[in-house]
Amino acid sequence: MSTPSACSTRRTISPADVIAIDGPGGSGKGTVASRLAAALGWHLLDSGALYRVVGLIALRRGIDFDDAEALAEAARKADIAFQDTLGAMSGPSPIRVVVDGIDETDAIRRAEIEQPASRVAAVPALREALFAIQQAFRRPPGLVADGRDMGTVVFPDARLKIYLTASVDARARRRFEQLKQREASGSLRAPFGSDRENVAGSAAAALAAIRASTEARDERDRTRPVSPLLPAPDAVTIDSTEMSIDDVMAAAMALVQERGLGR
Ligand code: C5P
Repeated sequence: MSTPSACSTRRTISPADVIAIDGPGGSGKGTVASRLAAALGWHLLDSGALYRVVGLIALRRGIDFDDAEALAEAARKADIAFQDTLGAMSGPSPIRVVVDGIDETDAIRRAEIEQPASRVAAVPALREALFAIQQAFRRPPGLVADGRDMGTVVFPDARLKIYLTASVDARARRRFEQLKQREASGSLRAPFGSDRENVAGSAAAALAAIRASTEARDERDRTRPVSPLLPAPDAVTIDSTEMSIDDVMAAAMALVQERGLGR
């Protein structure tokens, strides 16, 4: 696997600063990470996209989600390119994800990729295969890394670690709104995955399906033996349940300034 446009495997003598933002899906970390990276002019790592790509490959090729060797090999062989977001102005998820020359950005964001991504993410050999790739994103002037284990495993020396969380209801609601917006914009044809036909016309049922899926994913991410989703001991926890994304950004920027990071 390589990430030609976004990172180089060249090591820097003095590593660039890292801001790690971890937390469950729907906590707002993706939006906050991309806005922070844009505000600071730093690089951005959306580590979840890597697991989503492998989940997508496994689905398409019929690779068993527990087949450690096949998953790690698929990850090593895939050519994954991220659009470099250095200098991006603002907005959520500005990254385009290109796999073996094909833009898969919309494909990996589909609801039905969430469970496969979470399943393959529990496989230690795959996490090992993705480890060095993630570390190679660390380049001057700095990196904002978004994921589940950025502050605990991949960048334990990050200068700032934020653990962003929210209630499962709030996260499911946000995910529902996000998928609806994507559907409206035409980037998704089946926002609720295989459940769509069953719940057509019923927003409440769709929301309930998303809530159940969110809980299942959280449970798997929190209880897996390798790199479980948990706050680093030195992370600052922000509960965004009652906060707007602007409120969260203001809190994150205050922490950035307090630590003397950025320009
Ligand atoms: O953040 P996102 O929803 O894109 O992540 C998809 C899945 O990838 C998560 O449910 C999680 O299982 C896995 N993941 C992970 N470690 C990371 C980032 C994501 O295990 N650092």
